[in-house]
Amino acid sequence: MFSLSGKKAVITGGGSGIGKAIALVFAAQGAEIHIIELNAAAGEQVVTQIQEAGGYATVHSADISQQAQVLPIFSQIGPIDILVNNAGIAHVGNLENTTEADFDRIYNVNVKGAYNCLYAAVPQLKANGGGAIVNLASIAALVGITDRFAYSMSKGAIFAMTLSVARDYLAHNIRCNSISPARVHTPFVDGFIAKNYAGKEQEMFDKLSRSQPIGRMGTPDEVAALALYLCSDEAGFVTGCDYPLDGGFTKLNN
Ligand SMILES: NC(=O)c1ccc[n+]([C@@H]2O[C@H](COP(=O)([O-])OP(=O)(O)OC[C@H]3O[C@@H](n4cnc5c(N)ncnc54)[C@H](O)[C@@H]3O)[C@@H](O)[C@H]2O)c1
Repeated sequence: MFSLSGKKAVITGGGSGIGKAIALVFAAQGAEIHIIELNAAAGEQVVTQIQEAGGYATVHSADISQQAQVLPIFSQIGPIDILVNNAGIAHVGNLENTTEADFDRIYNVNVKGAYNCLYAAVPQLKANGGGAIVNLASIAALVGITDRFAYSMSKGAIFAMTLSVARDYLAHNIRCNSISPARVHTPFVDGFIAKNYAGKEQEMFDKLSRSQPIGRMGTPDEVAALALYLCSDEAGFVTGCDYPLDGGFTKLNN
């Protein structure tokens, strides 16, 4: 089950955290992996790890917020079978302390970056007879989270784009779903704790762990396992769905 043998998968942000775990699992299941990364050196390390395990992978250096960089990469890779829109950045702040520059930065990477990759990928998936798309949303798309104004905006857009693409390309055999993790322990989390809670890192880490009723953060491998299912032929009946992967955060926090 869950074989991706013979499939070509593009994973954005595959050099770190959740994207890295997805790249490693998809490669182990037989997919040809194409990582699109701002941090090409990090992507290269994942490629080496995959190649050493006998898999096929390559990294393409790009900023997904720039359509002029994204389109030629997809042309070079194509035709693809799978797109995982994973690359994303964080921002902590409410409406009043989110500047226009903050808002634009989060929008450009998290929303426009995903759009750019969808825009490049969907014609290829259509021409290829179909395929699977997984977008990384967040619980911030589903419930109100303190001090996540711009980030929540961006993940709400991911949630809505997922439904739109799923609906419009039903007839083309393209399935599109999203995953909404609660806190997952990755460099993304360590980075924003270090930046926003200097001197209180451990306290904040424990607090963020306890905010999942299950009592801990998720792991990148747990997200990768769901992404694998959603991109596999076994999930052929699943489209237009968002999957909270959240240790009970959205339903059991009462
Ligand atoms: N970690 C969590 O707790 C958590 C929770 C919910 C949702 N998510 C989402 O999951 C996704 C992955 O998160 P993570 O924790 O693995 O992050 P991470 O910071 O560990 O990795 C993100 C990767 O994306 C790359 N990237 C960033 N901007 C880019 C750009 N403009 N172009 C190309 N690549 C770019 C980075 O270089 C990095 O390698 C994000 O979309 C994030 O919003 C994470």
